[in-house]
Amino acid sequence: MGKHLVLKSYLNAWLPILSRWHGRLLIIDGFAGPGEYNNGHVGSPIIALDAALQHRHQAVRDQEIVFYFVESNKKRMEHLKALVDEKYPSLPKNFIVRYASATFDGAMSELLGYVEEQNRQLAPCFAMIDPFGVSDTPMSLIHRILKNPKAEIYISVMYEFINRFLGSREFRPHLDNLFGSNDWCRVQSISDRSERKEFLYGLYKEKLKESRATNAVHFELYKGYRHVYSIFFATQSWVGADKMKAAIWSIAPSGDFVFRGSANDEFDIASPDFNPLINAISEEFANRWVTPKQIAQFVGSDRTIYHSSQFKKNALKPLEKSGRLIIHPDDADKRTRRFTYRDDIRLRIIEEGQNT
Ligand SMILES: C[S@@+](CC[C@H](N)C(=O)[O-])C[C@H]1O[C@@H](n2cnc3c(N)ncnc32)[C@H](O)[C@@H]1O
Repeated sequence: MGKHLVLKSYLNAWLPILSRWHGRLLIIDGFAGPGEYNNGHVGSPIIALDAALQHRHQAVRDQEIVFYFVESNKKRMEHLKALVDEKYPSLPKNFIVRYASATFDGAMSELLGYVEEQNRQLAPCFAMIDPFGVSDTPMSLIHRILKNPKAEIYISVMYEFINRFLGSREFRPHLDNLFGSNDWCRVQSISDRSERKEFLYGLYKEKLKESRATNAVHFELYKGYRHVYSIFFATQSWVGADKMKAAIWSIAPSGDFVFRGSANDEFDIASPDFNPLINAISEEFANRWVTPKQIAQFVGSDRTIYHSSQFKKNALKPLEKSGRLIIHPDDADKRTRRFTYRDDIRLRIIEEGQNT
């Protein structure tokens, strides 16, 4: 499944980064499911366990990781437990699996209540939130998780449910909960379908960032031409946003899945156009000395849909070739080859039309 491929690729990048610095990591699967499906696909809890167990970095395999699987359906939970026992008869001691046969809201409120009561911080955590519908993921709870400066949220949102609820009075409280306010009501003055969608997604991103998340990445998953769902990722570090975008790029397109940067965006990752990246960099940095390190933070953040491994080859090089990029004379000898850009080299981008 597309969302699993992104998850796997992201965890591969995330685990070693945090393993370098922290005593314990927490991976939460708030809507864990049964762990496997009739079509032979494995579920998100198994993806997460495998990502850690099979990681090529020893530091990750040695890391203390708590996996917290929450599932409200008893049968699915039993299935998941049996599957984990069968698949991993002897998990390493540093990998601890905890289960909660409860609702996501209930289990997380209890965990966070305990942590807050002790005046402690939740361990650095990655929380996967993959509900059916939109009623069980209150924004207030997401904000509580994100109070931890090292928490990240990966949440799928089914637009069809939002859309279905919009016209119905009795469902208003669900949307208030989902967005953490009644600001979504403003959508009622928008008649164009795709503008409505764009507005609601923009609002959701904004709300995610109202707590401590500094970056919110949103992408859409299509199967053929059918929109399957939207995923939002909220993080407090630009590096997290960067790695998530790299994960999306690395697996898209994959089979018949296509990812798009936003709801109305025609941008197709399969045949990328880097002109928007060139324009964004030049708008942000034109006419002053900057380093590739500074540009990487901008590109990696949620202000672009690109990731930081792309901009040297696809933006700086074409800019220099067209005479729109110069290297600081004092840094010229830091360069051993043409069109290469060390992270600390000073360079200047010249606005379009101003180069000679
Ligand atoms: C979309 S599925 C999750 C799939 C799973 N993340 C995966 O990728 O394999 C949603 C799951 O959440 C469970 N569920 C529904 N409401 C829940 C709630 N309020 N709290 C926790 N689990 C819930 C359902 O029983 C179902 O197994």
